[in-house]
Amino acid sequence: MSEKETYESMMWTEKYRPLKIDDVVNQRAVVERLKSMLKSPGGMPHLLFAGPPGTGKTTTALCIARAIMGDYWRDFTLELNASDERGINTVRDRVKTFARYADRRVEIPFRIIILDEADEMTNDAQTALRRIMETYSKGTRFILICNYSSRIIEPIQSRCAIFRFSRLAEDDVVGYLKVICEKEAVKFEENALRTIYRVSEGDLRQAINILESASILGEVNDTNVEKTSGISGKAKVEEVVKLALDGDFKGARSKLIELTRVYGLSDRDFLKYANEALVDLNPPNLGEASEAMAKYDYRLIVGAHPEIQLTALLAELGRIGKDAGFKPK
Ligand SMILES: Nc1ncnc2c1ncn2[C@@H]1O[C@H](COP(=O)(O)OP(=O)(O)O)[C@@H](O)[C@H]1O
Ligand SMILES: [Mg+2]
Repeated sequence: MSEKETYESMMWTEKYRPLKIDDVVNQRAVVERLKSMLKSPGGMPHLLFAGPPGTGKTTTALCIARAIMGDYWRDFTLELNASDERGINTVRDRVKTFARYADRRVEIPFRIIILDEADEMTNDAQTALRRIMETYSKGTRFILICNYSSRIIEPIQSRCAIFRFSRLAEDDVVGYLKVICEKEAVKFEENALRTIYRVSEGDLRQAINILESASILGEVNDTNVEKTSGISGKAKVEEVVKLALDGDFKGARSKLIELTRVYGLSDRDFLKYANEALVDLNPPNLGEASEAMAKYDYRLIVGAHPEIQLTALLAELGRIGKDAGFKPK
């Protein structure tokens, strides 16, 4: 396969991953601080990137490696995922081998180790990680990536410069999706791009994935976006909740089973959508209904049988709807 063909067949999220820090969408505060840091890379400390998924953390880490090491960045950058590695000992071994590997072709200030999902590590593993960071700090810099910095032990936090990534705003996401549509020569409706933003909640990876799937169906319009993004799943769950509140237990139950068994909707997603639907439907005794949701949410988390629990939830919603004299619109 030629390089061009590889590029053509790449997923859009990879194809449109910025290579330069200046091309990262928004995250202005982060980008500005990093750019001034990169003026004298030798003085760069370890970094900790925190924030929601799909907001540019990994992308920015790779941009830094490229900015510091140019064409050779791949040889001097180690990417690890804390939850993929079998434990802190494998992390230590891989860091050790990587840090020792001698290559004197080029002058680089240090090697970079990107450790993704660092907040998935236990406190003990993090304590060991902190020692590893110290041992190799002369020739390497760590970029730790996590969703929540509060889950990183304090001794690591205090040794890192912390950068917080935020969810991307609607105009940022819609603007980026438009650029992709133009480059891919895909027809789109502006409104559908806004729908994608709403569904993906500021996660640009998810937004680009929905865009790509919708484009495979043809034009990027609301119908195709709905087909690929699970919005229709949400609408169907709303129907089930309405039926239940309205006292049609049998109808609600058969739709529930169709959704989970045929359509493959997970019980977690069912509950999430049902909760959103309840808030939208706003029955007079919403508080009571919310308590019921919370109860079943908990039961599912501790491992109760999903179909039995969700069926019981529908029965309970029926009672709640009856008490409130609920009549759906
Ligand atoms: N701020 C951003 N600027 C440009 N592209 C982004 C941004 N955030 C996410 N993306 C897109 O989403 C994909 C995943 O981004 P990534 O940096 O891996 O997110 P994460 O914050 O989860 O590490 C990228 O390949 C890119 O296409
Ligand atoms: Mg990432």
